[in-house]
Amino acid sequence: MERLSDTLGRPVRDLRVSVTDRCNFRCVYCMPKEVFGRDHPFLPRAELLTFEEIERLTRAFAGIGVEKIRITGGEPLVRRDLETLVAMLARIDGLDLTLTTNGALLAPKARALKDAGLRRITVSLDSLDDDVFRAMNDVDFPVARVLDGIDAALAAGLDPVKVNVVVKRGLNEDGVLPMARHFHGTSVVLRFIEYMDVGHTNGWRLDDVVPAAEIVAAIDAELPLEPVEPAYRGEVANRWRYRDGSGEIGVIASVTRPFCGDCTRARLSADGKLYTCLFAVKGHDLRALLRGGATDEELARAVADVWSARTDRYSELRSEATADLPKVEMSFIGG
Ligand SMILES: C[S@@+](CC[C@H](N)C(=O)[O-])C[C@H]1O[C@@H](n2cnc3c(N)ncnc32)[C@H](O)[C@@H]1O
Ligand code: SF4
Repeated sequence: MERLSDTLGRPVRDLRVSVTDRCNFRCVYCMPKEVFGRDHPFLPRAELLTFEEIERLTRAFAGIGVEKIRITGGEPLVRRDLETLVAMLARIDGLDLTLTTNGALLAPKARALKDAGLRRITVSLDSLDDDVFRAMNDVDFPVARVLDGIDAALAAGLDPVKVNVVVKRGLNEDGVLPMARHFHGTSVVLRFIEYMDVGHTNGWRLDDVVPAAEIVAAIDAELPLEPVEPAYRGEVANRWRYRDGSGEIGVIASVTRPFCGDCTRARLSADGKLYTCLFAVKGHDLRALLRGGATDEELARAVADVWSARTDRYSELRSEATADLPKVEMSFIGG
């Protein structure tokens, strides 16, 4: 099938589906408590896409060339019966299906997710130091339970298990090397992510970003690394493997080396808006079409029209000034 490209020649390849805007963590860089407090107006249930609506839209995206789906949030595992959605999406031919979670609820769920058809998973874990981790998730959640979740995912046969680490200057940068040591020699693939100015509530400053090159240098000094060729156009992570042959890591340099030129990702918010950039200010309302009785052809045409008109390249234009734009929150459209 001919894959659709946008105005800058970028094909649509990935779709990130946010299944909820809620989360059981309050990571300081994503859902700061001052903003996402007790009276924060989260989406009412009726506003969320149903699993059937998500499946229909996913099929429409598969029709224009999407081949990879990432279920995300908010925290996807707080959405009830998520394995039912996994089973529905796993039935769509030719789709690579994965999920990103904070791991808090993963230990008891890993087997059911695997049985439903999930093949791989990404768990976010910012520090192995319990005090630092509790401070970063800001709900006093112990690191041991996330490690249990990672073990359960490995035991269930989810493969690969990746671990996302957001690095923020002065907060968890000392934990980079301990993290590399911990997973060195295991099948777990670490992905270090530069702290980004997503949303407009996390008070982002360029000084808070630990450049990917610095992260690689810190690890390489003790555990020598060599670069790995990208597996495909648009691969987000720069991959490195240990010279001793015991695994690989990735770094996501979205701030210091923007990859807009190769960005093939579309994002669907929990209430059915299509965003063509993580840093978008506005989405396209697909739920209105779904609930207004659009046919499958009409849905497919709508997503194709949005993608063909896409111009976004925010990360290449980023500055301290653009950090203040009223961008949509990451917990709303997923990472
Ligand atoms: C928004 S979360 C949603 C899924 C799930 N709750 C989780 O934490 O894995 C997806 C990913 O985005 C990352 N993230 C959130 N805010 C970020 C920021 N300001 N900069 C870089 N990455 C961020 C998270 O660490 C996580 O790995
Ligand atoms: S990064 Fe994930 S776990 Fe942390 S607050 Fe955001 S959505 Fe929740």
